Amino acid sequence: MKKDNEKNDTPVGDGDGIIVLKNLTKKFGDNIVLDNISLAIEKGKTTVVIGPSGCGKTVLIKHFIGLLRPSSGEVYFKKRRIDNLPENELNKIRTYYGFLFQAGALFDSLSVAGNIMFPIRQHYKITDWTEVEEIVKAKLAMVGLDGYQHFYPASLSGGQKKRVALARAIALNPEVILYDEPTTGLDPIRADIINELILKLQRELGETTVVVTHDMTSAYKIADRIIMLHNGKIIADGDADHIRNHPHPTVQQFINGQVSEDDLAVLRARGTITQAQFLPRDFKG
Ligand SMILES: Nc1ncnc2c1ncn2[C@@H]1O[C@H](COP(=O)(O)OP(=O)(O)OP(=O)(O)O)[C@@H](O)[C@H]1O
Ligand SMILES: [Mg+2]
Repeated sequence: MKKDNEKNDTPVGDGDGIIVLKNLTKKFGDNIVLDNISLAIEKGKTTVVIGPSGCGKTVLIKHFIGLLRPSSGEVYFKKRRIDNLPENELNKIRTYYGFLFQAGALFDSLSVAGNIMFPIRQHYKITDWTEVEEIVKAKLAMVGLDGYQHFYPASLSGGQKKRVALARAIALNPEVILYDEPTTGLDPIRADIINELILKLQRELGETTVVVTHDMTSAYKIADRIIMLHNGKIIADGDADHIRNHPHPTVQQFINGQVSEDDLAVLRARGTITQAQFLPRDFKG
């Protein structure tokens, strides 16, 4: 069982992870989203990041690939510092990654095959189209959609779109796959298909996996390690059992889907619940 970051929130040694954050702080104006976070993502493992909406999960993983730069602190990939690299160097780093973004829509004007070829065309000059078609076929087979090459996104279900996006994410044989809310918007069965695919890819490709999710069923199923972000800090860090039994009330409220007293106080102060419900009767005279 891993220790909480409260205990390991000391500078992480370079050798400890494929992705390493050292004392990373990210502010937008006065809004401190990530507050002095140190973290090492272990190679070949599945790390799941949980936490309430707006707590900075997407901001965190965008630092892994240089889509955001820290206000202070450092980001390393395979022991190389990357947060200060120019864009063309970051592009090379990004070829090691596959990502499935939260709003990671497919390109509607491209067929399924065209979508999967996109990252390949972006990074390589293609001379052998038969080879590319074979890659597309193999990637689609991995997500159970071989045969859908000529479909357009508009004719696919939400779950199928996610699977095509997954096939696109693995087009360049990534060493790390980042998934941002891969099961959001899917019914439980389709969500579970995505979980199974994440597990299958991990088993077959042996890549490092980072998944951001609100979905605790999914988190427990796929994670080697779960990290919870709250108020800019990592408040819990460990395997599924560690998180299930975590003593921190905020962790328990989150994993059990309960609204915290703090959140309720904010809602009541804004008058959105009590006043909206009771105004007509209470104030009729
Ligand atoms: N480019 C930006 N400019 C300014 N503020 C930003 C930017 N990106 C994110 N933020 C702010 O950072 C905070 C964290 O956002 P983030 O998208 O990481 O949340 P999240 O944990 O992924 O939430 P959700 O679960 O809803 O996706 C929010 O307050 C958001 O408004
Ligand atoms: Mg997000």
